[in-house]
Amino acid sequence: MATGYFFSHRHILGIEQLSSEDIAYILSTADSFKEISARPIKKVPTLRGHTIINLFFEPSTRTRLSFEIAAKRMSADTFNITASTSSTTKGETLIDTAKNISAMHPDIIIIRHSSSGAPHLLSRHVNAAVINAGDGAHEHPSQGLLDLLTVKEHRGTLSGLKIAIIGDIAHSRVAHSDIVGFTKMGSEVYVYGPSTLIPKGIEQLGAIVCTSLEQAVRDADVVMTLRIQKERQNDPLLPSLREYSRQFGISGSVLALARPNALVMHPGPVNRGVELNPEVADGPQSVILDQVTNGVAVRMALLYLVMGNTQ
Ligand code: CP
Repeated sequence: MATGYFFSHRHILGIEQLSSEDIAYILSTADSFKEISARPIKKVPTLRGHTIINLFFEPSTRTRLSFEIAAKRMSADTFNITASTSSTTKGETLIDTAKNISAMHPDIIIIRHSSSGAPHLLSRHVNAAVINAGDGAHEHPSQGLLDLLTVKEHRGTLSGLKIAIIGDIAHSRVAHSDIVGFTKMGSEVYVYGPSTLIPKGIEQLGAIVCTSLEQAVRDADVVMTLRIQKERQNDPLLPSLREYSRQFGISGSVLALARPNALVMHPGPVNRGVELNPEVADGPQSVILDQVTNGVAVRMALLYLVMGNTQ
């Protein structure tokens, strides 16, 4: 870390806004918080008296729960609002909802929304710090950071690695954040999937587009698979899931093309037998549950760091 570095971000809107120094600092902060979750009493007073709101307009298991656990482990007061229980169902706009929440003086608002840019919009209308928990197909920065932490833990470095990301790249905010994050930290990201699910211009983010599964997976240090995001596809972009699994699914024989100790990753939820064979998902190279564990530490670090920059 360069002398004089300090973390200056008030909001966490995307990995695009973070420098490699910011990322390294977040990961080392997360690493220092990990032991709190291993204690018999998993609580520290760091964020006592602070109010954190989880505003989720899309379903979530891992992200919502781990932000809530992270906040509670740091003694913050947390409140959850979901789309179905919010007054957006009565026609209230996101900005009006945000202004009303802001009037109750929260310190941090964590938002997941189906529209790309919703957290950025929110950040312009509230006094609280805003953390993006996934906006449309745009970014999922906390997932990208926990993926980086997991690889760093297992490989000891984030530079010089070959990361293969296979699947629905076009609709994946995780792919976007991971491509940007791993590239910034000095690794190469190879992407492969059905041609209908590879967005034009993805190379501009730093990704290398492959023409075969073998090209993507051969000698990879990390093999990450993604779910087909049917909820973001207006028209069917695939012939069938069976065909998808045959052409793009990761089986033991496909994984054998990668480095012998390659990590198998997936942001979840996994569609077993589609993008990932169950024996690979549950096999010795899988670090999928380590990703989930690291999600709590990364989110504790993000809450702690943005709280340090609120007035
Ligand atoms: N990885 C992830 O975002 O999972 P959830 O949708 O369950 O939060």
